[in-house]
Amino acid sequence: MAEPLATAPIGVFDSGIGGLSVLQALLQALPEEHFVYLADAGYAPYGEQDQAQVLRRAEAIARYLLETQQVKALVLACNTATAAAVGPLRERYLRVPIIGIEPALKPAAALSRTGHIGVLATRGTLQSEKFAALLARQSPNTHFVLQPCDGLAAAIEQDDTATVARLAAHYLNALGPLGHRDAEVDAVVLGCTHYALVGEVFRSLLAGRCSLHEAGIPVARRARQVLAERGWLCPAQPGAGSIQLLSTGDPALLHKAAKRWLCQAADVQSLALAS
Ligand code: DGL
Repeated sequence: MAEPLATAPIGVFDSGIGGLSVLQALLQALPEEHFVYLADAGYAPYGEQDQAQVLRRAEAIARYLLETQQVKALVLACNTATAAAVGPLRERYLRVPIIGIEPALKPAAALSRTGHIGVLATRGTLQSEKFAALLARQSPNTHFVLQPCDGLAAAIEQDDTATVARLAAHYLNALGPLGHRDAEVDAVVLGCTHYALVGEVFRSLLAGRCSLHEAGIPVARRARQVLAERGWLCPAQPGAGSIQLLSTGDPALLHKAAKRWLCQAADVQSLALAS
């Protein structure tokens, strides 16, 4: 592959609309850039599939974004896809920065007073080797309560607000006592980019009992840093950037979500992308 141009777009993908929470931060950090956002909604949710299936999807998407769209960097705006695929993708595409996302355990631990932290994520993320390695790097004095949230990403994807509220309450409850007294969980990590979109639902259920942590902003900062190190930042004026939206599923869901979360009424192109 030839060296990418600084004016080439940045590819961003997720199983669906969740990665828009990362794209929000990317737009803030890199307002002059062109983004191609791909929602793999035809194959979602990823979180309850096995790692080999998610890896196959991530490989097909990376091939499309890197070889057809010629992106200069790839952001895996999905914790589940990062856990399954960031290693193999980096081995395969050596010349292009591939930036992943992982649950914000360290910032949550830094802020926690009780040392008890709840982690809400998909089953796929929590069962991955990558997550086990992340957990092993944390202080042994910190206690993490891990809670897989089956069905929550799918409800957020479908904008099913009643199910989102019910499941958010159910999974927070499963973390045990929440609050600032000894042995209570006082920090909650939203370890799935879909959950970050409904941060307000969690905030209102928590009513100040816990701090909330997600990783969109550090990912965007990292993307800016790796592009700057290579001299690949887009030379255009800030604000001159653009967003192209693609979906392998229902384009109406991504259109509606982009309007709501990015204030962008951009058209969504349907894409058939076999594994
Ligand atoms: N948004 C994805 C993540 O961050 C996963 C949602 C899904 O299960 O597809 O893990």
